[in-house]
Amino acid sequence: MSTSTAPNLIAAVNEARQWDRLMQLAELGAITGADGSPGVNRACLTPLDREARRMLIGWAEGLGLTVTVDEIGNLFLRHEGTEPGAAPVLTGSHMDTQPAGGRFDGIWGVIAGLEAVQAIREAGVQTRRPIEVVAWTNEEGGRFAPGCMGSMAYAHFKPANTWDAVADLQGVTFRQALDEHRAAEADLTHRPLGGKPHAYVEAHIEQGPLLEAEGLDIGVVTGIQGSRWFLVEIRGETAHAGTAPVSTRRDAVQDMIRAVNALNALMTDPTDVIRFTVGQIEVLPNSSNTVADTVRFTIDFRHPDKDLLLANGDAIEPTIRSAVKHCDVTVTERFHALPVAFDELVLGAVQRASDAQGLRSTAMPSGAFHDAQFMVPLCPTGMIFVPCRKGVSHNPAEYAEPAQLAAGARVLAAALATLAND
Ligand code: GLV
Ligand code: MN
Ligand code: MN
Repeated sequence: MSTSTAPNLIAAVNEARQWDRLMQLAELGAITGADGSPGVNRACLTPLDREARRMLIGWAEGLGLTVTVDEIGNLFLRHEGTEPGAAPVLTGSHMDTQPAGGRFDGIWGVIAGLEAVQAIREAGVQTRRPIEVVAWTNEEGGRFAPGCMGSMAYAHFKPANTWDAVADLQGVTFRQALDEHRAAEADLTHRPLGGKPHAYVEAHIEQGPLLEAEGLDIGVVTGIQGSRWFLVEIRGETAHAGTAPVSTRRDAVQDMIRAVNALNALMTDPTDVIRFTVGQIEVLPNSSNTVADTVRFTIDFRHPDKDLLLANGDAIEPTIRSAVKHCDVTVTERFHALPVAFDELVLGAVQRASDAQGLRSTAMPSGAFHDAQFMVPLCPTGMIFVPCRKGVSHNPAEYAEPAQLAAGARVLAAALATLAND
C-alpha cells in the first residue's frame, strides 16, 4: 500500500456501519443473560446460523464480492485482486457462538474483514492479491466437539469426515447437520476444500482483561497456547438411593468426584498459568433418588509450554484410572492443538498499521484458541486483538466499544492492504 492511499483507506472504515451490522447479527439468536445482558446463542449448522450467513452474503453480494462454500461449510467472500491468480490474503473468524455467548466473539472478525474489504474498495486501494473473508464452520465446539473443525479441515490437519459421528446433545450427528446445511445452501457456488493463502490475519476481541486494564487499543498477537480436550465416561450401575448400601454401590457420580479431585491435584499450578476446566457433565439416569450408572464429563486443558501440555495431558488418563474406585472408565482425546507462534510478516504488518494510526498497542499471546492456530503451517499468520470490557467472554455480558472495534478494523484494513500488495 502506498502511503498516499493510507489516509483514504483509514477514513473509509465506517464505525457506525460495522456496529450496525454486528447489532443486526446479534438479533439472530438473541438471549438475555442472568444480569440482563444481551447475549447470543447461535450454534453452528442451525437455521439461525444459516440466517446469519444469508445476512452476511447479502452484504457481500451488495459489495460485488464473490461468494463460495466448501464441503465443510466454510464460507468465503472474495475481493478480486489485480492479479487474480496470485495467492489470496485470507481474513475472518467464525459466526457460531457459545450456548450462553456474547455478541462479538468470532462474529466481529468476520464483520471486520467485510468492513476492511469494503473500505479498501471504497477508498479505491488497488490490491495485487485477492482478499478473501472467511467464516469458518464450528469454531466454538459448543454444539459439536471439538471446535475449529472448519479450519482444521481446510488446513488438512484432519480429513473433513473425521467428525461425522460426533453427536450434539439431541443425538444429531455432525454429518446429519452438515448434510442438511449443505442442502439448504445448495444454491451457493462450491469450491474445493483447502488452499494456500499468502497470509492469514484474524481480528478478535481479546477475551481477557489485559488491554483494557493497561489502557491499550490493540493487541499484536504473538501466538496461541496449546489446548487438549478429553471426554471421560464413567460407567457403574444404577441402584435405589434409599435401599442400596453405599458400600455395595458402583456410583458413577462419586467416582467422577474422585477423578476430578485427582485431576485438580495434577493441575495445581502456583504460577496460575495452567488452564484446567471441567465444563460439561452429563449424569444418567439423572434422577435424585437413583444412584447414577453413567457420568460423562469434558476436560479442557491448556498451557503455553508444549512440554508441560504434553506431560500433564498424557497424565490425565492414568490419573483418572487410579482415582476411580468402583466403575469402568473410558477417556477419549477429542482435540490436540500444540502451542503456535505467529509470523513476523503478519506481526510486522499489524504493528506498523497500529503505529501509523497512533494507537497504543502491545505484543501479547492468546489464551483462547482460534482458527488462526491451524493456518500457521499453511502461511504466515497473525491476529489482532481489541479490548473487551473486564475481559468477559463466553458470556452474554461480553462487550466491546464501537470505537475500539472500528480502530481494530482500521488496523486490519491497513494490514490487509499491505499484505495483499506483497
Ligand atoms: C474458543 O472459543 C476457546 O475456547 O478458546
Ligand atoms: Mn472466537
Ligand atoms: Mn469462543
